[in-house]
Amino acid sequence: MLGVNEKITSAVVTSALPYANGEIHLGHIASTYLPADIFTRYSRLTGRKIYHICASDDFGTPVLINAERENKSPSDYVAFWNRRDYEDFKMLGISFDSFSSTSSKENWQFVQYVFKRLSENGHIYNRDVIQFYCKFDNKFLPDRYVIGKCPFCGAEDQYSDLCEKCGRVPDEILEPRCGICGNKPIKKQSKHYFFRLSSFSTQLKLWLNTNSNLQSDVKNYVINWINEGLRDWDITRDLSWGIPIPLPEAKGKVFYGWFDNHLCYISTLTAYLRQSGVDGKAFWNSSEIYHFIGKDIVYHHYLILPAMRMGIDEEYKLPDYIPSRGHLLLHNQKISKSRNWYIGLRDFTTTFAPDYLRFYLASLTPYSQTDINFDWDVFSEKINNELIANIGNFINRALSFTQKTFSGKVPKPIEYDSDDNLSLSQIAGIAQEVGCLLSALEIDKSLKRILRFTTHFNQYFQIKQPWARTETAMTTLFIAVNAVRSIAVMLEPFIPFSCEKIWCQLGMTDSIHQQPWSSASQMRISAGHSLGKVEPIFSKIEREMIEHQKKGLGMHNGR
Ligand code: 2FM
Ligand code: ZN
Repeated sequence: MLGVNEKITSAVVTSALPYANGEIHLGHIASTYLPADIFTRYSRLTGRKIYHICASDDFGTPVLINAERENKSPSDYVAFWNRRDYEDFKMLGISFDSFSSTSSKENWQFVQYVFKRLSENGHIYNRDVIQFYCKFDNKFLPDRYVIGKCPFCGAEDQYSDLCEKCGRVPDEILEPRCGICGNKPIKKQSKHYFFRLSSFSTQLKLWLNTNSNLQSDVKNYVINWINEGLRDWDITRDLSWGIPIPLPEAKGKVFYGWFDNHLCYISTLTAYLRQSGVDGKAFWNSSEIYHFIGKDIVYHHYLILPAMRMGIDEEYKLPDYIPSRGHLLLHNQKISKSRNWYIGLRDFTTTFAPDYLRFYLASLTPYSQTDINFDWDVFSEKINNELIANIGNFINRALSFTQKTFSGKVPKPIEYDSDDNLSLSQIAGIAQEVGCLLSALEIDKSLKRILRFTTHFNQYFQIKQPWARTETAMTTLFIAVNAVRSIAVMLEPFIPFSCEKIWCQLGMTDSIHQQPWSSASQMRISAGHSLGKVEPIFSKIEREMIEHQKKGLGMHNGR
């Protein structure tokens, strides 16, 4: 039976595409990939047909420049990072259904198709623009390669395509300098193509006002941006690396990466479904669409992406949800690759169990744009006190006691007293409660609720003292082992690797990743069932390991 929170509509989840230009670090994980993965895993357990789509974002000047620096062709360079990113995500248990790339054939074709449709509908025009050009580097200097002062808020050292202070996309940056060599660039003329973003203002406002799934504070500031006036959007770059503009007169010009990258959400899904004979467009249009992002790319996802879909007559429907979250700080400072202030995902997952990171970040991640902070001491406290001393402790006590006293066979309950009944009612209500929170994308709150559940069961075990009270031990253990099963199912979205171990110890032979979510509220383990081999699932993080990590902060020489 479906609970009220268990939707039967299908869904597409996308995570913002990482640039194929360096390793994934913890900052990326907290705002986007982990919340998206937890939500997807939960949804799968509810029986919802859901696909988590991602790809590497391959185009742009930074990629080209780094490829040149490494003496690699841009396509070899992005192929390396595409594979590496995918492997890193996999090590963390991020369970994409498809991980493609913006330079894939499918995306290339789709982007050119969308451009043609937008042109036919009158949403594209061209004009000559004067652009920054560096005589020292012999390059037009787009986007991130011109640094200067934001014309809106006056913040210094901002990129020309996005002010990180006020979140707006400047029309023209003030006091420009070349981002490669620091010299003052000259201006040169070039023909550029523009998307008429401004003509979508009313339609965008209407959509924002009527879509009640979007975070209201985000909606408000986006509506303010519209009220201040949207500007048409330059979608051309004079670069050799990008998807070519499909017009004979536009030779040598490519699309700006932000024109093509979000279209890859659609092209990746349709290519993926085509393999199994499913019509991707029909699937997209009959599904709920979730785009998980960090707060720095709200402008692109709340304005440009929907306007482009509107511009092709909503051939592919607009997003239903655009969950956007804040930045991850590292010891209260902004994460920065260039200042070497970051923690690489691979470094982390080769040192600590990937589930430790998932657990810690999930426990901090609200459904809002508030920034959160990674702190090595808090990390070890959370793991030692919550994951191990609370969750792990209960699981291990319940299972090892059953192992020892009843030779690993789940005993038959005799009769239920008020403590037992209270525990049974905890189990009966928990799937619905946590499910509602997860459906509402409340990651930290759902994990807290599960922790209250395990706290309850630790207390229950303590009160019932099955080691001393043999007359009630059978009932206590019967309930406790079933509670362990509930915990395993509910924690699967959060700590999937550990839940596989719990599942094995419970003596299950099927997959934890395919249990019905609602079964977390059922007593599915019968008396007489044999447990597997029981051993501690987690190991404590020692002080020295944390001190070692703290000393190493800011010290790596990787990219
Ligand atoms: O900001 C970024 O890291 C971009 N690569 C995100 C792209 S998301 C898109 F595809 F919409
Ligand atoms: Zn220069």
